[in-house]
Amino acid sequence: MMKICCIGAGYVGGPTMAMIALNCHDIDVAVVDIAAPRINAWNSSNLPIFEPGLDDVVKACRGRNLFFSTDVEKHVAEADIVFVSVNTPTKLRGLGAGKAADLTYWESAARMIADVSTTDKIVVEKSTVPVKTAEAIEKILNHNSNGIQFQILSNPEFLAEGTAIEDLMKPDRVLIGGRETPDGKKAIETLKDVYAHWVPADRIITMNLWSAELSKLAANALLAQRISSVNAMSALCEATGADVSEVAYAVGKDSRIGPRFLNASVGYGGSCFQKDILNLVYICECNGLTEVANYWKQVVQINDYQKARFVKRVVSSMFNTVSGKKIAILGFAFKKDTGDTRETAAMDVCRGLIGDKAQLSIYDPQVTREQILRDLAVDKLDWDHPRHLQQSLNSKHVSVVSDPYEATKGAHGVCILTEWDEFKTLEYERIYKSMQKPAFVFDGRNVIDVNELRKIGFIVYSVGKPLDPWVKDLPAAPPS
Ligand code: UDX
Ligand code: UDX
Ligand code: ADP
Repeated sequence: MMKICCIGAGYVGGPTMAMIALNCHDIDVAVVDIAAPRINAWNSSNLPIFEPGLDDVVKACRGRNLFFSTDVEKHVAEADIVFVSVNTPTKLRGLGAGKAADLTYWESAARMIADVSTTDKIVVEKSTVPVKTAEAIEKILNHNSNGIQFQILSNPEFLAEGTAIEDLMKPDRVLIGGRETPDGKKAIETLKDVYAHWVPADRIITMNLWSAELSKLAANALLAQRISSVNAMSALCEATGADVSEVAYAVGKDSRIGPRFLNASVGYGGSCFQKDILNLVYICECNGLTEVANYWKQVVQINDYQKARFVKRVVSSMFNTVSGKKIAILGFAFKKDTGDTRETAAMDVCRGLIGDKAQLSIYDPQVTREQILRDLAVDKLDWDHPRHLQQSLNSKHVSVVSDPYEATKGAHGVCILTEWDEFKTLEYERIYKSMQKPAFVFDGRNVIDVNELRKIGFIVYSVGKPLDPWVKDLPAAPPS
């Protein structure tokens, strides 16, 4: 029986391996991690990540051909294919700080693979890495190999959180990059056979290593760029009286553009977009491509602008001060149907409002109190580093509650920062009655019916929509 081992039991490693185990009864899959609590959670009924459909998939194969373990070395030694899906945070210090990927975890995984291997292996890059990482990894493996053959493949993952199971079951494409040597081609075929258990052959694309590595960065950069483009339009819509939803609809009808991924928002978040673009920018700079680097940098800058613009809109609408005012934050996850908060726009918006001394009451259906307090305590870019786990905000400015009506009770304003479906059907009449007047709603996700809420009496701001007369008549905020 073929054996697969995946190093890193995170958002990518866990669901991806569960899907392989589900579809390949003839393959034994072990997911290993150095973090014992994470592995314990994977072995319990309370999985470490919330993902629709994941519980059923794990239940169907755990103990059959899917195993979660902290015995990293044993499972790596036994495997024919080793996937590496460890974290690749943005570097905080030294050369490339704030932009380049920190490959510490990758390198230590590679050295460990070389140390414990006694048979030939295919090593697969699963986590997104800078272009040419495979070359560095190849060098580490082959310099320490004792004659064992390693073939490196790049097999970037395109799943999106919240729809991971669907994306894995029916991927738009599976990408496999490898060396163009006979051994490289053989390794590509071996991995292709794994996916061919459930993915149609015409959706499995093979190419050279560097193209595969760059394709992942390029896909995320183009997706993020679409959001920054529509978010930039949202600012112009507010200034002119156009409605960004109507503009996006009209634009998306052009088959060359397409309708998806054109929702204006308070800003994109997630573990990938910002990190991958910063990485791309750094690679461009290292190659002397200043203009290209500057082009992609703008995508991140517009995203930061969108978050700052939202905070400014809240503060300026509420008579230029939120000091001491209770503000309800509905939604903290970076998007709906996930408990993940990595790089969530909510973090920056909350920090901005706390900076103006607002009193925040935060509700999210999936994110724990501990997680929110930890996120608000750390510096930007720090979330992907282990010390993040030790921190917690102890602030009189923040409370985390488990009910949206408690969050909004007595509040001056409500900010909707994640597009959870339940926010569409809240009893807004009840919320209005319980709030201070005038009562404000700032919708960063276009989830509420603006006209309905205005009828109730709310003063409503919704990203990219024609402004409430109240907001429109305010003097323009000075440029910061
Ligand atoms: C464009 C719009 O497509 C059309 O909807 C609008 O009404 C007028 O402007 P047009 O300028 O006639 O139409 O041609 P188009 O096919 O869009 O090409 C514009 C330029 O982009 C050309 O120079 C073309 O060679 C270039 N192009 C297009 C690329 O370089 N790469 C591509 O992938 C597509
Ligand atoms: C992304 C890529 O989609 C996925 O292919 C890659 O493997 C990992 O990065 P993910 O970060 O899980 O996936 O979520 P995604 O659905 O792409 O959303 C990213 C962010 O963009 C979220 O904050 C989301 O709310 C925001 N977004 C998305 C918008 O603001 N508007 C949109 O139209 C779409
Ligand atoms: P992703 O979103 O890419 O899946 P995560 O941060 O969720 O990233 O998961 C990465 C996992 O990799 C973490 O659980 C971390 O403990 C694990 N990890 C990092 N380095 C190693 C290593 N050398 N050996 C085993 N697991 C590792």
